[in-house]
Amino acid sequence: MEDRRFDGKVALITGAANGIGAGAARRLAGLGARVVVADIDGDRGKVIADEVDGLFTHCDVRDPEHSKAAVALAVERYGSLDLIALNAGISTGFGLGDDFDPERYRSVMGINLDGVVYGVHAALPALRESRGQIIATASMAGITPTPLDPIYGANKTAVVGLVRSLAPSLVRDHVRVNALCPSFADTAIITPFRAQLDATNLPILEVSDVVDAFMAIAQSDGTGDCWFVVPGRESQPFTFRNAPGPRTATGDRLPVDPGAFATGQEA
Ligand SMILES: NC(=O)c1ccc[n+]([C@@H]2O[C@H](COP(=O)([O-])OP(=O)(O)OC[C@H]3O[C@@H](n4cnc5c(N)ncnc54)[C@H](O)[C@@H]3O)[C@@H](O)[C@H]2O)c1
Repeated sequence: MEDRRFDGKVALITGAANGIGAGAARRLAGLGARVVVADIDGDRGKVIADEVDGLFTHCDVRDPEHSKAAVALAVERYGSLDLIALNAGISTGFGLGDDFDPERYRSVMGINLDGVVYGVHAALPALRESRGQIIATASMAGITPTPLDPIYGANKTAVVGLVRSLAPSLVRDHVRVNALCPSFADTAIITPFRAQLDATNLPILEVSDVVDAFMAIAQSDGTGDCWFVVPGRESQPFTFRNAPGPRTATGDRLPVDPGAFATGQEA
């Protein structure tokens, strides 16, 4: 039976002019969604927007006003916002010594972390109305150490932490928030270190594999999940080990696990 879940739904995707975001735009549009392509790359962004019969908006995710304007456009033109994919991102570069540079750090954080925070902030009022969802593109670099690009590892880990921490407080609003965590995928972002990757024989994901996982998240019921995407395995939410909670002086178990405060669950 044809999947009608996205028919008429409204999606806004940052970084949708290329790579994973463009793939997600095409897939959602193919299922009947109205798509807003938000990117700094106007040339490619307009091509993708035309292809998906959607809208392009120039949006630099470092500027919170741009995120607000992109959300306003979606709501004005299409009537609501059901899904925001906070996907725009860049890599810091490869190689520890050369790249551990505070200026570079600030500029990359501005896109990979601030851009997600501003996108969440801009979209929440509309998502509360629609009982919609947020999918943030983090990375496997947010789940595993990334010695070759520590700043990227830091901002993607921050996105994972943000998603996991934000989810419980949005449950009452019926807004879901999840993270997409791919390993290396075949997009322009890996071009600068493609030769090094090829030399390691590390399998590289096709964009369609990542989009499959994106769609699995979009169709899931979960929230606060960080879905790994690696070659040869079915994508699923990554299972984090429970962190140890405090013990009382007598060794008694505390009545409530600190981690349960957000959800109100009994320990
Ligand atoms: N390709 C991979 O190996 C890989 C792995 C894990 C995570 N990711 C993440 O996937 C996301 C998408 O990257 P991709 O692989 O499709 O790369 P890509 O380079 O093909 O696409 C990134 C898009 O983000 C846009 N962008 C860059 N800076 C922007 C800004 N300030 N404001 C708005 N848009 C901006 C670019 O114009 C481009 O269209 C990124 O967050 C990236 O970190 C990629």
